[in-house]
This record gives sequence, structure tokens and C-alpha cells, in this order.
Amino acid sequence: MSLKYEHIIAKMSLEEKALIMSGKNTWQTQDFPQYGIPMMMMSDGPHGMRTQPSGVGDHLGLNASMPATCFPTAATVANTWNEKLGEELGKALAEEAISMGVHVVLGPGLNIKRSPLCGRNFEYFSEDPYHAGKMAASYVKGIQSYGIAACPKHFAVNSQELRRMAMNSIIDERTLREIYLTGFEIAVKEGKAKSIMSSYNEVNGVYANENKHLLQEILVDEWGFDGYVVSDWGASNDHVLGVKNGSHLEMPGTGKVGQKEILKGIEDGVLSEKELDQRIDELLDVIFTTHKGLEKSRKEYDIKQSTMTEQGFDIESHHALARKVAEQGVVLLKNEDGILPLTKKTRVAIVGDFAKKSRYQGAGSSLVNPTKEPESILNSIGSYELQMVGYAQGYERNAKKNPQLIEEAIKLSKEAEVILVFAGLDEIGEAEGLDRLHMKMPEAQEAVIAALAEVHDNIIVVLSAGSPIEMPWEGDVKAIVHGYLGGQAGASAMLNILTGDVNPSGRLNETYPIHCEDTPAFAYYPSKERNSEYRESLYVGYRYYTTVAKKVRFPFGYGLSYTNFEYSNIKANEQEVRFMIKNIGKRAGADVPQLYISKSSNTVFRPLRELKGFAKVELEPGEEKEVVISFDDKTFRFFDVRTNSWEIENGTYQIQIGKNANEIVLTTDISITGTIKDGGYTKTAMPSYFSGKIENVNDKEYESLYGKDIPDGSWGGLIGINDAFCQFYYAKSGFCRLVYKILTNIMNKAIAKGEPNLDILFIYNMPIRGISRMTGGMVNMKMVEGITEIANGHFFKGLGKVVTGFIRK
Ligand code: BGC
Repeated sequence: MSLKYEHIIAKMSLEEKALIMSGKNTWQTQDFPQYGIPMMMMSDGPHGMRTQPSGVGDHLGLNASMPATCFPTAATVANTWNEKLGEELGKALAEEAISMGVHVVLGPGLNIKRSPLCGRNFEYFSEDPYHAGKMAASYVKGIQSYGIAACPKHFAVNSQELRRMAMNSIIDERTLREIYLTGFEIAVKEGKAKSIMSSYNEVNGVYANENKHLLQEILVDEWGFDGYVVSDWGASNDHVLGVKNGSHLEMPGTGKVGQKEILKGIEDGVLSEKELDQRIDELLDVIFTTHKGLEKSRKEYDIKQSTMTEQGFDIESHHALARKVAEQGVVLLKNEDGILPLTKKTRVAIVGDFAKKSRYQGAGSSLVNPTKEPESILNSIGSYELQMVGYAQGYERNAKKNPQLIEEAIKLSKEAEVILVFAGLDEIGEAEGLDRLHMKMPEAQEAVIAALAEVHDNIIVVLSAGSPIEMPWEGDVKAIVHGYLGGQAGASAMLNILTGDVNPSGRLNETYPIHCEDTPAFAYYPSKERNSEYRESLYVGYRYYTTVAKKVRFPFGYGLSYTNFEYSNIKANEQEVRFMIKNIGKRAGADVPQLYISKSSNTVFRPLRELKGFAKVELEPGEEKEVVISFDDKTFRFFDVRTNSWEIENGTYQIQIGKNANEIVLTTDISITGTIKDGGYTKTAMPSYFSGKIENVNDKEYESLYGKDIPDGSWGGLIGINDAFCQFYYAKSGFCRLVYKILTNIMNKAIAKGEPNLDILFIYNMPIRGISRMTGGMVNMKMVEGITEIANGHFFKGLGKVVTGFIRK
């Protein structure tokens, strides 16, 4: 294949070619001014830019970054079900990125919410791949309309934080395609993403960053991806194999370590120079086009340079956009007796520490340094016509219940008509590198709700959390409003909802089960050893609950409004479904009709229903509109492992229009001529997968789904370079066991204090080879091998390797 940049590549020496495949530092690519190749700057930015001035780079959100608008996190944005808004948000992100000289925005994150316990769920969109993909594509379109690149992440099957860098996702091909890749497929095909971040984990025994099946066969050959692949920070395992199989850039920079590995790979014949040239050509294309795009947009939109003290973009309009997104992301979960919206002059008591200091984003690499002091309820409520009778703290963050604070809240409640209790998850509940152990709210918060419910009838709970929680107290309160993580303007957005200035239109991006034990992957999640078996297969979230008719607290897609909508007149043909929707209440509002497809079959197991489309429809009181949802290539397909391609089963499909996954309001059947008659599965071989009862799938059935023997994920007893540091628990060397103890101690102390120690969490989950990937070239792989020898009790042999490695450097 001829190269677009052959004239440049031909001038580069082999050493230079090998060098460009690793970053220059934490955020930038290597530049070669002699050939006109500029450096390309990357920066985190799923819900706001985290751009660090050069010299203080870190990938965990530890050091200061330039002030940027902290928009609501992806989970909140997903609740809007509003692709146009996602695109608007993407454009604002691009303006901020450009003002900071950023060519690639490292987001959005769209891993599937396999379990509510995943510590990064607040950063992800949905438990449904179609929903996640559509929202991600909207971000990507917005960002890339400014000529720079978005970078959907983490590709792929990276749905747990525990041992996130030393974990092997064992997943059958059908589940991989239908659940874990479809979102990325939409982000690539519809969003035309120019970049993709490969994840830390292995997928079926091969690291994502060197996985030919993912990076070449699917991403490029099937989806037509023409951008570049960057490793997650420290995710490069075998750099040579990475480059060979479709990865372009290992990040952060590894000094000369990566370069030497590529040179050796060429010398040994593992990688050909032609393959290397091809990767460079693809990478250069994004470097050059994003440079041009950035310069052009800077002029076109008059975007100035930002610094640590001054922002080059319009702070006010972006703050207003952050509020608009937060408003649309609020989900009204319960509203008994129409207690909401609050009427003017209602005497309200405010209870809860979150009202004073908002919870508005999560911790980790997505952490944004806001352009304004994040709003709080207490600071904002003065601008509303409510009569606030007082504030009581109610509980302390990360602490046991405090009887005195509860007493104060009870006393205050006596003066008020309505008590607004602000509660949710403490900071420690939502952090990169740390999964939750349960779905409960902090005990101190539950205690204050329970105590108030004993003495007052009108309690409204206002939640801040980026992931589901159990709500055993649901029956004790009149209303529940969920703001998720609303970004820097989240408090006024919430007050606009509470007072009725804005009619809630958010719908849940995930199911709220009653108990954590109800979740489909409960028995398998998170995996504690090397292998994470995805035995529940397609039955993630509502796909499971609806199929087995398990009662849930709030279903996927659910949310109330201050008005009501009526649906009628469904019609479908092979291209689309049409129906009428009418606002039958007294207020203007928006509803989110959801298209689900259902089919019973004896030869293809399927969940009861699957989301294949949605719309956000705004209606004035009394107004009626026709809604048309077009079918697309995903509507009727399933992935057929026999043909290794998408097929459509012949037969009758039920088209369902739902208000949420549990409430189908219109149905009609259509008959489809597909591509196959028989799906090839049998109920006798796969009883659990046909019934959806996948709580404990036995090895035999799982193997027939997986198509191979289940790989042995148990640990062999000797520490290897790909074992995580937490594995030092088993080290033969007393010194390494001590390192483990110290790490664990620091980590547990931080958890007890409620402040996630991101550095330690990163190291705890990092494979030992990570030392060579994360130290900017100070340590090479030989030295890493030496360290593992030492850990395995061979002190002198190990030391020898460390010394030889050091000398070879
Ligand atoms: C995270 C990525 C992030 C990268 C750079 C990694 O630890 O997993 O999401 O983009 O760091 O900060």
C-alpha cells in the first residue's frame, strides 16, 4: 500500500522511526522539526479538560491542571438521552482543548457498566451498548467538528477497576461483539473517531494493546478505522507486538526503552520496517490533520491561549452549558402526592453535608480543576423564592453516624414544611482504581434519613452519585431526585428542577437493582484472580432483569416528569417505526421514547428485549407529535459465531416502544426476511442462556458458549512480570512482602479516611512490568525481570539482572 507521507518517512532514520512510536513525555508525542513533524498534545477530558502545563504531568489527576469547565460526568450526560446536547458539549470541550493547545481529547469513556460496583462507572455512559455508543458518537462528532481528535476509551472489555492492569477478560465472541464492542463500533463508524485508547487488560489472553483481533481485524478491517491507537497510560505490554498488530503509540513516553525494543524487534524479524512505516504513516496523518484543525479553529472561533490563571474560552457560556446538561441529566425517581415542584415560599429545611460542599465529579484521571468555585445548594438557594428555615449538616462524610448531628436535623425539621436531604456516595465511592464493595449508601446518611422519616412526612431526598445505590428507605420518603454528578453548575441545575423552573427529563442510563446481590454478574464480579469470566454473557443490566422478571428498584430508562405523556398509533415497516406522543399535562416537558426489539427463538438465545433506538421529544401542554425512529444495521442483527459475522434471523420481531425497560406502552409485530433460518443454538445445550438464569452457569455450559476450554486463571505460585504488585503478598522475598504490607496499609488508611490515594491504587493494580513503562526510561525490561527474580527469592540472580539491565541502558 502506498504511503501518504512517504516523502517524510523516507527521510527518517530507523532510530527516528522507532522513537516516534513512544511518547516524548506524559502527554506529548515526539517531534522532528527537521522533517516538519510537530508534537501532538493529548489531554484527559471526558467531562472537562485536565490539561497540565508541561513539567507537572501525571495521569492520575494529582497535580494541578489548567482551569476548565467541569461539565457533568458521562453518566449524567447519558441520562439526558440527548445526542444534540452531547454534540454541543463536545464542541465546548473542543474550544477549551484548543485554547490549551490540545490536539487529542482523551475521551469519552464508554466501557459497559457490567456491575454497579465498578469505580469508574461515573465516567461511563450506560449499561446498554447502543445507548453508550450513540452518546459517545455525539461527543466525538462535537469534538472533531473543530478539527481535533477525540479518543474513545478503554478498548475493550475493561469493566472492573480491581487489578485493572493485570486482568484477563474471558469472553465469548458473541458477547464481545454485541455488548462490549457495539458502543465502540458506533463511536468509530458514526462518530468517525480519529483515535482509540486501548485498555490495560488482556482480552482472551492477549493484551488489548497488542490484540490483532481487536485492533486489526475488527477496528480497521471491519469498521474502517483510519486513526491511531494509543495505549492507556502504562498499558503497553510488548511494544513490538503492539506496533505490529495495530497500536501506534505507547504512552507515557518510555525514554529510549521503547525505541530500543522496536529496533530489536526489527533486527529479530518480528516486525518489518514496512509495518513500522505503515504505522508511522497512520499516526502522522492524525498529527498533521489535528494541527491544521487546531490552527484553523483557533482563528475561526477566535479562541485565545489559556494559562493557569486566564482562560481563552468563554467561561460564562460554558458554565451555562454545564448547567443545561446537568438539568437534563437529573432524574426524578419518585414524586408522591406531586410534592415536587416546590411551590414559592415553601418553608424548606436543608439537611446534609452535600448541600454545603457538593459532590459534583469523581476522582482519578478525569478530575477537572473547575473555572469557578463549584456551586453548592447553600450558596445558590438565595436566588430562589423558597423560604429556607435553616441548614443542618446531618452527617459527616466518611464517618460513622453522629447522633448529635441527627438530633440537630430533627430539631430543624420541626420548623419546616418540607425537608430536603442531600445524600449519596462519599468521594471514596467513586474513584479510578477502586471498585465499591457494596451498593449501600454510607451508614451515617441512611441514619439521618431514617431518623427524619420518623418525625416528618415530607422528606425529599436529593442524590449525588454517579452509580446506583441501594435505597431501602425509598418507602419512607415522598420524593427522590437524582442529580448524578452534575459538574460545577450542578447545584443551580438541581434547584431549577426542585422549584419547577425546569421540568425533569432525565432517564436512567442503568438499572437500580433492589440489592447488590440481584446484579447478574454478582457471582463473577470483580474477579480476584487473573481471569475475569464474563459468564453472564449478554445478560447485563436490564437484559437480565427483564428476561428473568426480577423486580428492580428503578428500571433502565426510567424517569418521571412534572407532566404526563400518552402514546398511540404505532406503525412499523422494514425501515422504521412511527407513533404519536402527546403531552397530556399542564406543563411543557420532554419524554424519551425508547425502541426495544424482542424476538422469541428456539435457535438463538436472546434477552427479552434490547434497546435499538431512542428519541428525546419536547412537547408543549396538549401538543402531539409524530415520532419516527429509523431502523439501522443494528436493529435485528445478532453475531453469528458460525459465520463470524452479523446475521439476521428470519421471522417475526416485536417492535416495542417503552417509557423504560419495564414499561412498554406500544407494540407491533413485523416479519423480517433475514439472512439465516436457524441460529444454531439449542436449549438443551444452553438452558441458562435461553432462560436468562445465568447466576451460576456451570463450566460445561459456559464452555459451549465460549467455544473452547475455560483457560486456567489460577496463579502459578511464582511472581511474573505481568503480575500486579498486590501479588507481592505471595512473594518469597521478605522485602517484597514488606512492600506489599506498606502499600496495603497506606491504601487502607486512605480508604478509611475517605480519600482515595490514587498513586497507591495505581501501583497496587499495576503489573511489575509497569515500572519500565511508567518511569520514563529509567528502568528497562531486563531490570524488571531482575525484580521479579528477587521477589521469587533469588536475590543474587535478580540483582545480577538488575545490574546488567542497568549497564545495558
Ligand atoms: C486512565 C485513562 C487516562 C490516562 C491518562 C489512565 O490511568 O485509565 O483513562 O486517559 O490514565 O491520564
